[in-house]
Amino acid sequence: MPLHPFHLSYRHLSMALWDRVFENAASMLRGRGDEIFGKLTGLEALRAKAQYNTGSIPLASQWALFSLAYFTRPAIVAEVGTFIGKSAVALAMGMDAAGQPGELHTCDMSNRFDLPQLTQTTVTQYTGCGSTQMFTEMTEDGYAGRVDLVHLDGRLMPGDLPLLPQLCAPQAVIVLDDFEGIEKGVQNLKVLRNMERFANWLLAYPPTREQLQRYGLPDGSTTALLFPGELLGFTAQ
Ligand SMILES: C[S@@+](CC[C@H](N)C(=O)[O-])C[C@H]1O[C@@H](n2cnc3c(N)ncnc32)[C@H](O)[C@@H]1O
Repeated sequence: MPLHPFHLSYRHLSMALWDRVFENAASMLRGRGDEIFGKLTGLEALRAKAQYNTGSIPLASQWALFSLAYFTRPAIVAEVGTFIGKSAVALAMGMDAAGQPGELHTCDMSNRFDLPQLTQTTVTQYTGCGSTQMFTEMTEDGYAGRVDLVHLDGRLMPGDLPLLPQLCAPQAVIVLDDFEGIEKGVQNLKVLRNMERFANWLLAYPPTREQLQRYGLPDGSTTALLFPGELLGFTAQ
C-alpha cells in the first residue's frame, strides 16, 4: 500500500502564507506602523466628498494589503473599488516600502473625487468609471499580460470576464475583499473559478483573528487571495 500523502487543506495553506507575509513586514509595523496607519486614517476625511458614502476596509485589511505588496513587490496593480482609497494607498505604500514604486490603477463607478498623492507609486484614478471601462482602457494602453496584482473590492461585471485574464501577468495574485459568507468576495471567486485561466488557482483564506492579534491588529480581515501554484515554493529556512 502506498503511504498516505501529506495533504494540506486550504486552511493550512492560508495560515502558513499569512504568517510568512506578516513576519516579513513585522519590522515595518514596529518602525513605521504609526506613520502608515496615520496616513490611512487621514483618508477618512474624504468621506465628506463622496457621492456614494460606503464602507472602507478595516485596519487589519489595510495591513494585509500593505504587507502583501511589500512581500510580493508588484510593479503594476489594478483595483476595482477606490472609494476613499485606504486599500489603494495601503497597496501603494507597500510597493514604495519594498523599494520598487510602481503603478496602481483604480476605478470607482460611484465616486468622482481625487485621492491625495501620498506615495511615490503612481496612483491613476478612473473616477465615475466601471471596471469594464478601466480594464478596456488598460488593455488598449498596453497593459495586457502585465498586471501583477488585482484587488477586487467591487463586484466583477460580465464585461470584465474576457478582459481580466488578458490583463493578468502569468503569475498574478488576485486579492478578494469581503471574502465571507455570501458576500461579494465569495461571489467574485465563483465567477473567477468558472474561467479556465483561474479554475485551478490556489485559494488562501483571510488571516485568522488569532494571527492578526499576534501582530497587535485588533479587528478582523476578509482579505483572501487567489494565485497560481507556481507562486508557491519551499525554502530551507
Ligand atoms: C467597499 S467600497 C471600496 C472601499 C475602498 N477599497 C477603500 O479602501 O476605501 C466599494 C466601491 O466600489 C465601487 N464598485 C463596485 N463594483 C464596481 C465595479 N465593478 N466597477 C467600479 N466600481 C465598483 C462601489 O461603487 C463602491 O464605491
